Amino acid sequence: MTAPTPSTSDKAASAKERVLIFDTTMRDGEQSPGASMTIREKLELAELLQEMKVDICEAGFAASSEGDFQCVSQIAELARDMVICSLARSTLTDIDRAGEAVRKAKQPRIHTFISTSPVHMKHKLKMGPNAVLEAIGASVTHSRKFVGDVEWSAEDATRTEFDFLCKAIDVAIQSGATVINVPDTVGYSHPAEYGALIRRLIENIPNSDKVIWSTHCHNDLGLAVANSLAGVINGARQIECAVNGMGERAGNAALEECVMALKVRGDSMPFYTEVVTQKLARASKMVSSITGFPVQYNKAIVGKNAFAHESGIHQDGMLKHRETYEIMQPEDVGVPSTSLIMGKLSGRNAFRDKLESLGYVLEAAALNDAFKRFKDLADKKKHVFDEDIIALVDDQLAGAQEKISLTKLRVMAGTEGPQSAEIELSIEGEIRSTTATGNGPVDAVFNGIRQLCPHTAVLELYQVNAVTEGTDAQATVSVRLADQGLVATGKASDPDTLVASARAYVHALNKLEVRRAKAMAA
Ligand code: KIV
Ligand code: ZN
Repeated sequence: MTAPTPSTSDKAASAKERVLIFDTTMRDGEQSPGASMTIREKLELAELLQEMKVDICEAGFAASSEGDFQCVSQIAELARDMVICSLARSTLTDIDRAGEAVRKAKQPRIHTFISTSPVHMKHKLKMGPNAVLEAIGASVTHSRKFVGDVEWSAEDATRTEFDFLCKAIDVAIQSGATVINVPDTVGYSHPAEYGALIRRLIENIPNSDKVIWSTHCHNDLGLAVANSLAGVINGARQIECAVNGMGERAGNAALEECVMALKVRGDSMPFYTEVVTQKLARASKMVSSITGFPVQYNKAIVGKNAFAHESGIHQDGMLKHRETYEIMQPEDVGVPSTSLIMGKLSGRNAFRDKLESLGYVLEAAALNDAFKRFKDLADKKKHVFDEDIIALVDDQLAGAQEKISLTKLRVMAGTEGPQSAEIELSIEGEIRSTTATGNGPVDAVFNGIRQLCPHTAVLELYQVNAVTEGTDAQATVSVRLADQGLVATGKASDPDTLVASARAYVHALNKLEVRRAKAMAA
């Protein structure tokens, strides 16, 4: 095989066919254990998905909670150029709720599903095949009363008997489904098998050319992206995927990997997507920051090391000719190749330009705040890298509107314990302070917060990552708190790990408070 040349044009006038990108980060992605997003965070993500020209956004599962319902309807209202979809089980009440939630969308879709595999029908649904076929007919017909665009999924399709799967899909098409999704729900299939299944279904089912065929592959064997591409090669024209591969258990096919595989290997896979690939890195960072799930360093496309060349031989090759070791360019996915390093002499205009190049457009007041925080950081840190600025702004955006905020912190640490923290918080505008001790400085800080703001939440995760390299690097801290079934992840960055820890804890408390209020209202 010859070395691939990076492709620059996606849909060269030739015969490339379009593949639709269906993002399910907010629905299947949110099913990742430990991940949850507030409505505000989902709205922000939806804005970005729209800018990225994602075709379909599965904004939630409207019948699952009032929060999901609100989220789907608010996203439906704001979306202009994206299909907005809600998931629904096969019950009429679920479908009514989904229909109501997507009502205001310019391009609404209902995505209804039922299991078709013997193991699911017997043990989960406790329904026989005929009852399942009836439910498919009734659910798709009912969905069509609300919208013209109805997607039907055969849950656990890859473990379903082929003849029954054909019957089920035939009923869905006859009842008015416009998109047929073939989920590998348990991530059990492999590319040759999954591709052959899609091809065989298309060849055997009447009117298969009247619907769009879709893939939905889970990553339990690490094959989700490969299976999705095999599906496309064999006739599917929609890929369901999630940013950073978020999703139930091992996750879904990663959106950025599917999109870039089609873009870079357009030479042998004649397909294209409309996704603005330059925004992939930004989406990845946003999802990681919202959920508190760090992106693995060597993750394809968006990992910190995806474009880093370490060995001397590779560096030498890169300096001589970029394509020796690079099959795509960092700029193609939104990673700046040469990072303009900002420091304390950089002015407001340079800072605003830098923010815009990173995908942030802030209003005047937010820009002033960000600039001040950037200057404070530049005083403490010689070089301020792009990642530092992203962390700083994400942190600021997350912190706006919080009821509790950290106003002061002084910590005594070292070999002579107990370590102690003097801490001051502003709680709904009232300043409170205390001194607390603990088993280490972080424990002392968290004990201080607990004293000032008593709560029953349990600390489930405490994680520190360095945003950039060096001893003056900013630390990004994630804190996950759980309380009576509600979970919230807080994140904060600061060159001082203890300040970042305190702010991340407070951020999680604020998020938990919002979630509690929502749960009570529901
Ligand atoms: O994995 C799955 O089968 C699903 C369906 C609801 C589409 O997420
Ligand atoms: Zn799924």
